[in-house]
Amino acid sequence: MPVRVKQLGGALGAEIGDVDLSAPLSDAEFSQIRQAFYRYQVIFFRDQRLTPEEHIEFAERWGRININRFFGAVPGYPMIAEIRKEPEQRQNIGQCWHTDHSYDAEPAFTSILYAKVVPDYGGATLFASMIAAYDALPDGLKKMLAGLRAKHSSRHAFGDGTQTLETRRDGRISHPERAVQDAVHPVVVIHPANGRRALYVNPDFTVGFEGWTQEESKSLLEYLYRHASQPCFTCHLSWAEGTLAMWDNRATWHRAANDYNGQRRLMHRITVEGEPLSR
Ligand code: SIN
Repeated sequence: MPVRVKQLGGALGAEIGDVDLSAPLSDAEFSQIRQAFYRYQVIFFRDQRLTPEEHIEFAERWGRININRFFGAVPGYPMIAEIRKEPEQRQNIGQCWHTDHSYDAEPAFTSILYAKVVPDYGGATLFASMIAAYDALPDGLKKMLAGLRAKHSSRHAFGDGTQTLETRRDGRISHPERAVQDAVHPVVVIHPANGRRALYVNPDFTVGFEGWTQEESKSLLEYLYRHASQPCFTCHLSWAEGTLAMWDNRATWHRAANDYNGQRRLMHRITVEGEPLSR
């Protein structure tokens, strides 16, 4: 049976229908899902009823699971990170555009987010295609970026300077002593599965271009961030309980809207390890 694929946005995003992720997927079904994933960069499945074990089993079909260093885990399941905001909390996790774990030498491949509790309104996740953003750059800039590498770090996001963040104070994000990752990656990467080029810098974790100071890097990075976050490169996912989304961190950014103060939102996230990036 072919799985149903319904495109969500012009640049990225598709809903996959007629699939129950709690049941074992045949190789044929999995291969169709993988094809859709590489084509649309973020895919989502509605109305799933997954136990943590089934979530882990699905994630393990994609690769080795990363144990998150900073986020609290679902009790009893260190492989599943909790992305949580309670009614009395004001800050959420993942509010700025980012690519998961770009500060690692081998950055995350995919993150698989499963909605457990969603607010009555708001709490959407926005995604942006770094393939579409790269494709739309002027040729001269593409040539210049081809020779550049950029430094990414976890230190400023999760390290000692973050004590005042509510998410740090209330323990949703902890272990600042583990924020020691710095990595240098090409600014334009070649996607290992489909050979397409993608812009690989992001506002949360990129510190600057290799061989440039932060001050020298600032205006070009800001230009790229303004360019890449234009609505034509994005799509918007409204969650319902039981929605599961997975995105390709080598080709996308994402951010979580924080527009539901006074309500609870709880997501379970599994991140799958990636490989070194090439250009
Ligand atoms: C994240 O950045 O992984 C969280 C995204 C979300 O909660 O929507």
